[in-house]
Amino acid sequence: MRLHPTPPIPAGEITPEAVYRDRRRLLAALGALPALGLSGCGEAAPPPSRVVVTPEQARSGFRTSEELTREADATSYNNFYEFGTAKDDPATAAKTLRTTPWTVAVGGHCAKPGKVSLEDLLKGLPPQERIYRMRCVEGWSMVIPWLGVPLAVVLKRFQPTSKAKYVAFTSLADPRQMPGVRVPTLDWPYREGLRIDEAMHPLTLLATGLYGKPLPQQNGAPLRLVVPWKYGFKGIKSIVAITFVESMPKTAWNMAQPSEYGFYSNVNPAVDHPRWSQKTERRIAGSASKLFAERIPTLPFNGYAGQVASLYAGMDLKKWF
Ligand code: MTE
Repeated sequence: MRLHPTPPIPAGEITPEAVYRDRRRLLAALGALPALGLSGCGEAAPPPSRVVVTPEQARSGFRTSEELTREADATSYNNFYEFGTAKDDPATAAKTLRTTPWTVAVGGHCAKPGKVSLEDLLKGLPPQERIYRMRCVEGWSMVIPWLGVPLAVVLKRFQPTSKAKYVAFTSLADPRQMPGVRVPTLDWPYREGLRIDEAMHPLTLLATGLYGKPLPQQNGAPLRLVVPWKYGFKGIKSIVAITFVESMPKTAWNMAQPSEYGFYSNVNPAVDHPRWSQKTERRIAGSASKLFAERIPTLPFNGYAGQVASLYAGMDLKKWF
């Protein structure tokens, strides 16, 4: 994603503007799409479904046998706008990010708020390995072995109350360490959010490492979110605050372009991004080169429908995109 200038989407992937405008007009006329600008914020969102995901169902999503992305690709082709807007900026510019000591402020609607060190936040929780497919909204995907702890286990330590309907996350925004923050590419700090049931889902990971090693800065050290059924921008990096809130929190990309980036951002091949299709993805894995990797069909919920579709039972996913 890039706001200034427009995202670097390969020319062949972009629907010609006239075709896109006609299609939008037609679909809007048919009532199939929300009016441009409707982000899902502002209107009361449907409550979480009451369907419970069984542990077996959840565990079946913890691994995939698909070919892994090379570590060198996963750590050199990154989005981390605090360090620049080009894919290869973070790998060099983020080297100066200091990740120790690191504290996270947890607050809002919970019985035990507090500002805690990273060590205390994760105390007694050995990192687990999860091999997840990751789908970026820009049309590429990777398969990454993460290390991390289930977000639910960490959140429960702070005892969220019944008013905690959503969880808001905030990244560090330090202009001394992060050159990109000196430029208004986004409304800093980077912010993201999840509905409480999404945050508590066993697939949702607070990642601290990848490929068996601690997270490199460019991938969001020392602590980032990984939500494998959502587009990659939900995976907020270098988290410094977690807040339990009652209403849908503001999120960085939704604030920047509400018609393009909804709050939910579940991977959905049936809902095009206004400027390109989401039906297929370039899978950067094995020896596939970053720009010309094989295109494969994108699956609903990024292939995790069996684990998460029930969270959205009864919701119109074109409206709540
Ligand atoms: N978090 C912060 N703080 N800043 C960012 O610019 N980019 C997001 C997300 N988290 C971003 C962020 C986007 S657009 C993507 S696709 C993923 O990080 C990329 O994660 P990766 O570099 O580990 O692949």
